[in-house]
Amino acid sequence: GTPGPLAGKKAVVTSGPTHEAIDPVRYIANHSSGKQGHAIAAALAALGAEVTLVSGPVHIPDPTGVKVVRVRSASEMLDAVKAALPADMAVCAAAVADWTVANRATEKRKKKAGAPPPVIELAPNPDILAAVSKGEGCSRPRLVVGFAAETETLLDNARDKLARKGCDWIVANDVSEGTGTFGGDSNVVHLVDAKGVEDWPRLGKDEVAARLALRIAAVLGEGK
Ligand code: PMT
Repeated sequence: GTPGPLAGKKAVVTSGPTHEAIDPVRYIANHSSGKQGHAIAAALAALGAEVTLVSGPVHIPDPTGVKVVRVRSASEMLDAVKAALPADMAVCAAAVADWTVANRATEKRKKKAGAPPPVIELAPNPDILAAVSKGEGCSRPRLVVGFAAETETLLDNARDKLARKGCDWIVANDVSEGTGTFGGDSNVVHLVDAKGVEDWPRLGKDEVAARLALRIAAVLGEGK
């Protein structure tokens, strides 16, 4: 493997959106491009980690030096993450759909003259970050990092997610319209742990990833 402070360490990173099928031709999704998660996978690999990147449907190139597992739905993502464990660290940067379609149709839904529009029923998806953090049906990595994407009361929601999901750190970012957090090349993040919050300046997503990887290496790196 690549030398570096994370040599010999295994990492699992999730990235991108998930697609929840309505019928064979339609789905529910979100604006995640995969840029932030893919950059994190690349940055961990650059420090020597053996990285499995579990990615939802994205239109950006695979990072080099990383094993990429492509999935569509949240439930496929959960299965792929579990298959990639055990690992020393997990970073969940994917924008996983909170809900899937309960009444998914096996054939394309037809528009019928005079008929009311179809009703899409939602059901909760598994929470991948919570499952990994709690070691539900898998072994818990030593360090589990989640994200919080919020449009209001960012830090309160991030602290709440840290406690509720049981991860070690939360990287909080504002995804309000006009921020460019979804799809853009830079990000303003706040690193939240049980002790407090660290505000980072606006950085390229690659720089956010590099800094985060160094922080991870400071905890897990060589002999730690
Ligand atoms: O992909 P980009 O265009 O570069 O954009 C980056 C990003 C905005 C997607 C990224 O920085 C980010 O914030 N990712 C998390 C998005 C999200 O879904 O956040 P959330 O607050 O809804 O979820 C909190 C955490 O739980 C996240 O770590 C998420 O991966 C995880 N989660 C959520 C729901 C679920 N069913 N399973 C999960 O694992």
